[in-house]
Amino acid sequence: MPAKLVVALDVDNATSALELARLLIPATPWMKVGLELFTIAGPDIVSQIKRLGGRVFLDLKFHDIPNTAAHAVKSAIKAGADICDVHMCGGEAMCKAAAQAAAGSACLVLGVTVLTSTAPEDVPGDISAMVVDYARKARAWGLGGVVCSGWEAAAVKQATNNEIVCLCPGIRPAGLGQNDDQRRVLTPAQAVQAGADFLVVGRPVTKAADPLNAAMDIISSIGK
Ligand code: C5P
Repeated sequence: MPAKLVVALDVDNATSALELARLLIPATPWMKVGLELFTIAGPDIVSQIKRLGGRVFLDLKFHDIPNTAAHAVKSAIKAGADICDVHMCGGEAMCKAAAQAAAGSACLVLGVTVLTSTAPEDVPGDISAMVVDYARKARAWGLGGVVCSGWEAAAVKQATNNEIVCLCPGIRPAGLGQNDDQRRVLTPAQAVQAGADFLVVGRPVTKAADPLNAAMDIISSIGK
């Protein structure tokens, strides 16, 4: 499956989000609705993006008791999410309940491992080993894949026999020279080379003077 660009619609109102979605969906259908947009716009934004022909990664990173996480996944599916996610650190019972809640649906539930804003010096252990451990657990617990940085994508794919999806934020186009708050960063081409199935890119597209052109540049840099 060729890697897909997911544009993070990190804006604070539905009008701007839909303007971006309308512009970008013909180039790449995958849009990310995260905490900033969802908190102000609510679940309707998901169906509005879908009506434009988009596909939605609802990135709300659920982390709660198993019953609540499972019902949140069910609500995400009802809202129209194609992908949603839970924090791996919620543990086995929560992750299994979340995976179970999506059984029989087409929604992919991913496990968030270590945020891409975390630098190696921020944690006592080896981040790659932590992510690989989470990836093995994600597969064993029935999740469809993990959210990790491109730095760990190759190790995740190897450790799980290519059986789970790798969705990577922390992507910065070559030559941009600005990582914002992201710390474990790769270029789009490097991340795809490492095995990423989905690249999540926000500010380099949404804050560009010409967002469509910025998205097209990324798409051509990954050869699609
Ligand atoms: O603007 P930027 O490209 O840094 O946006 C990255 C997007 O990916 C943000 O919406 C952020 O919430 C999300 N994300 C992330 N790291 C994770 C999971 C999600 O940066 N581990």
